[in-house]
Amino acid sequence: SFLEMEVEQINKGKYEHYMQKEIHEQPESLRTTMRGRLIRGGSCKAKTVLLGGLKDHIKTIRRSRRIVFIGCGTSYNAALAARPIIEELSGVPVTMEIASDLVDRQGPIYREDTAVFVSQSGETADTLLALEYALENGALCVGITNTVGSAIARNTHCGIHINAGCEIGVASTKAYTSQIVVMAMLALAIGDDAISSQARREAIIDCLFDLPNKVREVLKLDQEMKDLAKLLIAEQSLLVFGRGYNFATALEGALKVKEVSLMHSEGILAGEMKHGPLALVDENLPIIVIATHDACFSKQQSVIQQLHARKGRLIVMCSKGDAASVCPGESCRVIEVPQVEDCLQPVVNIIPLQLLAYHLTVQRGHNVDQPRNLAKSVTTQ
Ligand code: G6P
Repeated sequence: SFLEMEVEQINKGKYEHYMQKEIHEQPESLRTTMRGRLIRGGSCKAKTVLLGGLKDHIKTIRRSRRIVFIGCGTSYNAALAARPIIEELSGVPVTMEIASDLVDRQGPIYREDTAVFVSQSGETADTLLALEYALENGALCVGITNTVGSAIARNTHCGIHINAGCEIGVASTKAYTSQIVVMAMLALAIGDDAISSQARREAIIDCLFDLPNKVREVLKLDQEMKDLAKLLIAEQSLLVFGRGYNFATALEGALKVKEVSLMHSEGILAGEMKHGPLALVDENLPIIVIATHDACFSKQQSVIQQLHARKGRLIVMCSKGDAASVCPGESCRVIEVPQVEDCLQPVVNIIPLQLLAYHLTVQRGHNVDQPRNLAKSVTTQ
């Protein structure tokens, strides 16, 4: 009806689509996610993290034999992005499970495990079934959701709300970045407070405080991503190479592109390049390589060289100031992003890819907010 259309227009504000609005909202949604949870200074001068919903369970999580992350789609990718920092700060082994696959295999889950269920809606059928299964097996179950009162929030033993605000576009954007930030805070909360990791922890907390500003900065790439989309509009396929902290960025960037723009896209672990993907490389197929500055940088530089040697059509995402050193030739395009603490770089790096997926979709004439065949919340198996 006319009234519904009016209300929708108001909700979208100055934006044409919810996905666009939600991408641009990220400086604010991240701030809301962190509000009241990051403590800097104060009487004890220490920098700490407060996660109210977990306070009675932190010790149990810290002592668990394993942390298992369980989710579907974007929520799984967010957990994958946070995995390295959880392992680093807690020392607890982390394994990853796609919810349906865990249930299909009836994979081993033990009483000594902490099972963390990540879900924007808190209602995804596959994730709920995996939760039932983990409860039966006696694991401590933690929920990370964006929906207060959702089934996953209600049925887990404890949890953290991501507080990203209502997300309407079927393709998850602001929930993804808020999920990563929540899991980075989880890493800080369960990590031991050893002197040896003190500087690292404080650097992460300082970076979290400043992250909304960095996200605002990277959002300025909007026009550049619109131009890049124009260049890619008629392509059949797009590969995204990442590794380390940004393996998840490659998977999530490719997922965004395929789910909304309906272009085939694959996220590839760069370390696996020689074990198959290299066969696809020619002068036609566009390839995005994520090569921002971190411990994997030199390995990514050599990946770029090898793709270039096979005439790959390269688009390199690098840290500001690195363009000259990462670009193998004039034909190579670059996406320069602000550099942040390595474990939080996925929050910054996904944003140009969200923008690219958005513009590709609009330019290809597809439905941005409700891609064909997909639903926001998949409540059936
Ligand atoms: C659907 C949505 C995705 C989402 C996935 C998991 O496939 O289209 O955007 O990532 O479900 O949803 P959840 O609500 O559990 O995070």
